[in-house]
Amino acid sequence: MAAALGWAVAVLVLALAEGADALDNGLARTPPMGWLHWERFLCTTDCASAPHACVSEQLFMQMADLLAAEGWRDAGYEYVCIDDCWMAPSRDGGDRLQPDTQRFPHGIRRLADYVHSKGLKLGIYGDVGNKTCAGYPGSYGHYDLDAQTFADWGVDLLKFDGCYHGTLDLLAEGYKNMSLALNKTGRSIVYSCEWPFYMLPVQKPNYTEVKQYCNHWRNFADVFDAWISIKSILDWTASHQDIIVDVAGPGGWNDPDMLVIGNFGLSWDQQVTQMALWAIMAAPLFMSNDLRQISPQAKRLLQNKEVIAINQDPLGKQGYRITKDNNFELWERPLTGRAYAVAVVNRQEIGGPQLFTFATSFLGNGLACNPACSIQQILPTSEDYGLHNWVSFLKVKVNPTGTVLLKAAVIEELPEEKLAPNSKKPSLDTL
Ligand code: GLA
Repeated sequence: MAAALGWAVAVLVLALAEGADALDNGLARTPPMGWLHWERFLCTTDCASAPHACVSEQLFMQMADLLAAEGWRDAGYEYVCIDDCWMAPSRDGGDRLQPDTQRFPHGIRRLADYVHSKGLKLGIYGDVGNKTCAGYPGSYGHYDLDAQTFADWGVDLLKFDGCYHGTLDLLAEGYKNMSLALNKTGRSIVYSCEWPFYMLPVQKPNYTEVKQYCNHWRNFADVFDAWISIKSILDWTASHQDIIVDVAGPGGWNDPDMLVIGNFGLSWDQQVTQMALWAIMAAPLFMSNDLRQISPQAKRLLQNKEVIAINQDPLGKQGYRITKDNNFELWERPLTGRAYAVAVVNRQEIGGPQLFTFATSFLGNGLACNPACSIQQILPTSEDYGLHNWVSFLKVKVNPTGTVLLKAAVIEELPEEKLAPNSKKPSLDTL
């Protein structure tokens, strides 16, 4: 009896410990996907001079229409998210946050209803401190009220910024209290944090704790529409992979910030790199672009089913950089079924396409192609590389600042005759 009770307690303790691993709100089992206004539309509040770019209900309704009509929602982009600058400069008589009445004349509840009617979800923005980064009212001292207000409006995601947070203790307490406040509302609200980003200059974040409270979290500076921004995010991620990669998993993700594909600053190859590496990093995929004006090529890249499937892989393991060899980087991400996504990035910014040759034994600690595997190229174009084994070499040709994204699917048992005669050293010169 005592032994049975002991077991029961042990099981309960284990269950509780497991539950405490990730924020236990049942959300973000795979990285959330959607659209977020910030990088492209910033704090544009003058609708008279910028009627199509100002942060207004019209902008979000138009994006919702397009997300539903143009294949985005069906590809997985589900959350239409408002960033900073939606608020009126002060709270209402009941101390509640309120939207700017000129730009959101029908209020957020109506906007949420509209977004929901399109089969989409609505995200909103707040700040843990006294003010948002753009100077609108912060949630400090109002966490419960603001969480309830968002829930009453039918909001489905909260991006919670960390400007004007005061001390590091207040920062931590604020992020935790808002998480608890959201939970108390009983509404399912994805909780997007910037807690580690605001901590990092001063103190190493406790990622186990961050993951208990947040569904995803920013670690690094804001993305902007330039290659230097994308490469600085990749460099930061690779140099901190030992601390951040293992934390990620269903319910909690590292957030390297928005996809800027479809804007002005990235070349085609750089857009491919962002898409491929955001898939490898198991990143939340929030586009910040203008869906009313986007090239068919950028749209195809953002809606590429194979890349999205890698990003959304149910195993939920974040990828990492295996090696950096001169100007080449080799990244991989373990996928379900012992498959691997592999990205070869050419970091050279001079010259033309370069060849990179590597052994399949590099992949998955030697297991990805053991005894054999079939390899598909997913980006920049879809190609079949055929069958390979554990002593094969792959040779890929990558444009400057571009990436070749591959998927290797292990083949457990392969009849000898099925291996291509040259499979020990396949020539991929045809690339
Ligand atoms: C911070 C965040 C950005 C954006 C702006 C809004 O800089 O990191 O993502 O939300 O604030 O003011």
